[in-house]
Amino acid sequence: MSKKKIAVLIGSLRKESWNRKIANELIRLAPEELAMSVVEIGALPFYNEDEEANPPQAWQDFRLTMKAMDGVIFVSPEYNRTIPAALKNAIDVGSRPYGKGIWQDKVGGIVTCSMSSLGGFGANHHLRQSVVFLNVHMMAQPEAYIGQVQKLFDEDGVLVEDTAKFLEKFMNSYRDWVKQLS
Ligand code: FNR
Repeated sequence: MSKKKIAVLIGSLRKESWNRKIANELIRLAPEELAMSVVEIGALPFYNEDEEANPPQAWQDFRLTMKAMDGVIFVSPEYNRTIPAALKNAIDVGSRPYGKGIWQDKVGGIVTCSMSSLGGFGANHHLRQSVVFLNVHMMAQPEAYIGQVQKLFDEDGVLVEDTAKFLEKFMNSYRDWVKQLS
């Protein structure tokens, strides 16, 4: 398999975000067939269809960057039992103009991380609902709900071994899923 370009979209805009830390671990543990890079979503103006006549530069840049990607891994917290608005906004920006969206046939994966024990289960499945509609081919297994994420790094910022092993398994399964769909 030739090297595949995979975008990592992080649902939290917080500087010390646990989800960003987990996203960095996914990048670190990714198999060599995947070229992973974070695509930032925090500066995207709210989607407003009136602006399609003259789209904001940030929308254009995001669409161009995402168009070149083979796949996307979402790493997100849960906000009030769904995904954060910033991430939904990125999905919406990428879905338009109608018929020219960038999500079509991307190979998808999702990891949700929460400080509670539920691991962002609600957000994980709400995101799936939106992106499956957009024809992102979402990996089903292994599911990744990372609960009590604040307990998974030691004082030096090193991820505990069990979770690192699980994330590595997740990335290997994702690589196999990409391969299967190539
Ligand atoms: C949360 N949090 C949260 N956690 C959860 O498990 N289910 C939820 O519905 C919510 N709702 C929620 C709403 C809002 C507005 C905030 C700010 C937080 C807590 C959340 O898991 C925690 O803040 C994480 O640390 C957020 O992820 P980052 O920013 O550390 O990546």
